[in-house]
Amino acid sequence: MKEFTASAPARANLIGEHTDYIPNGGHVLPTPLPFHTEVSVRETGGPSGRVMIASGNFPGETFEGAIGDAKRGAWTDYVVGCLQEAAKKVALPALDIHIKSDVPFGCGISSSAALCVGTVRAVKGLVEADWSDVDIAEMAFHAEHDFVGVPCGRLDQYASSVGLPGQALLLDTKTLVFRNVALPPGIAIMLVDCGVKHDLAKGDSHQKRLDRLAQCTKARDLLGVGTLCELGYDDLPRIEAIEDAVVRRRARHVVTENLRVLAFAEALEAGDDAEQAELIAQSHLSQRDDFEVTIPEIDALVESSNRFGVRGARICGGGFGGAIIALVPQAKAADWWTSVSKENPNGKLISTYALAGKRN
Ligand code: GLA
Repeated sequence: MKEFTASAPARANLIGEHTDYIPNGGHVLPTPLPFHTEVSVRETGGPSGRVMIASGNFPGETFEGAIGDAKRGAWTDYVVGCLQEAAKKVALPALDIHIKSDVPFGCGISSSAALCVGTVRAVKGLVEADWSDVDIAEMAFHAEHDFVGVPCGRLDQYASSVGLPGQALLLDTKTLVFRNVALPPGIAIMLVDCGVKHDLAKGDSHQKRLDRLAQCTKARDLLGVGTLCELGYDDLPRIEAIEDAVVRRRARHVVTENLRVLAFAEALEAGDDAEQAELIAQSHLSQRDDFEVTIPEIDALVESSNRFGVRGARICGGGFGGAIIALVPQAKAADWWTSVSKENPNGKLISTYALAGKRN
């Protein structure tokens, strides 16, 4: 019986948050992290379409059923969604699937994309398909968006499937054109989990995401554009004229955040550290005040971070909990964490990944 094992990484997003919703169609700038989900698929020889899914990370939460089953509101939905995407392209045999992961869950570094991309990669290996990394990202996106029902964009799946370690992936989520931007050496990506978990697939965070998606769609329609990120600084007066204050704030965040991504990529290439820090700081304030996706625990972490000499700190990922990302000169990283953790005893350091491409 054939078997295949593959893995896929989690990601941090350097900048470009909530720009990737379909009505927004903006840019994002993520980088893969050295946390991985490993997926092993094995043919069982049973009746085709049967599947068993298990993971030591979720003991007792196994799946036994058919590939075509409806979603169950469990973590295994992500895997089933991927199998359904794969089954649109190839006939799948009965499978036994085992998952192992060192990705921290629910803290904004996309454990779900690591799981989906890892699953599609493993199935690709098993059936010897010729899917490209972009095909894999698309399958993972459709599994999460269409089957699981997460109102996500394509940030996470492209970062996990197409991104390269030590490089930032500048992705236009409308045209799906991307390129890599080298990251500066000597800077550590410090990710600090605030301790409040979020789940964009269900509950309160899910509803808040749906609200924001609706507000962005409304702004796009009011402004009469194909996607909000077609707009630039010259269009800000039109945004300021939107009567509904909430819709106005959402549009202002999306349009300015998209412009910040482009400016940040340029600042990286120009080695302009001060500009990078300024853009990251603005990104956080815009998410706090205009997109309203931060929570007090996250704002407190960012405020401490800024006081202890970082090159920018902000909320990372889907919001309503999760982690902050801080770019810290490696030489200062240990002192920075000592000071920040004193002020935020619930904060948990989850990554000190050096941008040079190795763990420190
Ligand atoms: C989650 C979603 C992404 C993106 C981010 C916010 O991670 O899955 O598509 O919208 O939130 O930038």
